Formats: sequence, C-alpha cells, structure tokens
Amino acid sequence: MINTAIFAHRGASKFFPENTMSAFEAAHLYGADGIEFDVQLSKDLVPVVIHDTTLERTTNGLGKVSSYTVEQLKSLSAGEWFGPRFKDEAIPTLEEVLIWASENGMKLNIELKGAIHQRNHVIQTIIPLIKDYQLIDKVILSSFDHRVIYQAIQHTPEIETAVIVTAALHDPEAYVKRIVGARGYHFLSPLLLEEEARDLIKSGVNIRPYTVNERDQLAIYMKWGCQGVFTDDPKLAIEVREQLNC
Ligand code: G3P
Ligand code: MG
Repeated sequence: MINTAIFAHRGASKFFPENTMSAFEAAHLYGADGIEFDVQLSKDLVPVVIHDTTLERTTNGLGKVSSYTVEQLKSLSAGEWFGPRFKDEAIPTLEEVLIWASENGMKLNIELKGAIHQRNHVIQTIIPLIKDYQLIDKVILSSFDHRVIYQAIQHTPEIETAVIVTAALHDPEAYVKRIVGARGYHFLSPLLLEEEARDLIKSGVNIRPYTVNERDQLAIYMKWGCQGVFTDDPKLAIEVREQLNC
C-alpha cells in the first residue's frame, strides 16, 4: 500500500497561479493531501504567502515584499501574470490560508522564507497563529534556513519540522535529528539514492522530494516509501498513486 502524501507545490501551480487561493482550492478538489506554500513577512510584520522576496515575477507590483504593508500587498494582482482570468487573485495572508485549511482538513507545509534577521518575528507571529487555528497537527514547518527551524523547535517542540536541502548531505540522519532536531528531510530531486532513502526512513526521518512532476519519478519515490512528494501537478501524482495501489 502506497501512503506517500501528495503536497501540491505552491498549490496546483501547473494549472493555477502559484501561492493563490485558486491554486490551493484546485489542489483540494483534485484530491491532494496537502499544499506547500511560502510565507514571509510584510513591512507591518503580517505573514503573507508569496515565493520570491520581490514582487515582479508573480504580481503587478515592484520591489521588495518587505517594503509594503499587508494592505498595500493586498491591492496587487497575484494572478494576472498567469492569465487574464486570474487578475482578481490577491496575495493570501497566512491567516486566510489557515482559516481555509481548518475548514477542509488539508495538511499544510509552510515554508518559511524571508530575511534571516527576522527569524524571531517569523516564529513569534507564525506559530501562535497556527495554534490559534488548532492546526499544529496538520502543519510541517520547513525552510532552507535551518536556524529558523532550530528556533521553531525550541519554541514549540511538538510542531513537525523539516530542513530543505539543495545538496546531498554526507550524513543527513545525524544532521536532521541530532544537529537541528528536526523530523524531516526535504531534498531536491534527484539528490538521494534508494539505499540512502531506505536508511533515512528506517531511522525515522521523514523524507519528501521536491519538485517532482514526472510520472516515472513520482512512482519511484512512492515505491521507496517517501512520506511525501511536492509536485506542481497533483492530478498526475494522484493518478500515479492510484495505479500503484491497484
Ligand atoms: O518546500 C519545497 C520547495 O518549495 C522548496 O523550494 O524554491 O520552490 O520554495 P521553492
Ligand atoms: Mg516552497
């Protein structure tokens, strides 16, 4: 039985503008188990959902996300770049996504982005919000900034966490468990061998590759027993999982 959880990467971002409510809703409708999305702070320290630290690629704004208040960010289109029918999509706040998720039971991989000097603010604003909506059991906090993950674990040890890596680590088990104290290893596909995956799973580390959009690769990671996969195409991933389970 394949149990790999399918996380729609920035929502169903193959078909909808990334990190918008329409991409998250589509992921839910397709049957994904969860969504992955990126969070950083606005100028007035409100967590907002956007990948880049600048606005140009995915909005009609200019400059740094951190230079604008949430009200200013909310007035931008986060969908027009993807297609005219998405022009009314706004940048979601984390709170909006949490409200939505608490109504539909989706798992949430919240990727912490943003400036390293804001680590304390990130933790002090994001974790209490997750607690307010009673979503601690549904959330994985992940980041390329492993120090923010370490601090999150000190703040709230019960929250599930993961480090994201872009290189193959020499001893990921020791690093994840003993140095950072996290539970998950989110690795850039294809930077892990099957035997390494087997050892990590055996040692209790949750492994989830990103970003996997090819049928064959999805099938391989599911057969390895990865706890999750991040994909822009949750429809395809669901089809692959269903076929493997037949
Ligand atoms: O969380 C996995 C993946 O999203 C990390 O890379 O750049 O897509 O946020 P990125
Ligand atoms: Mg991400």
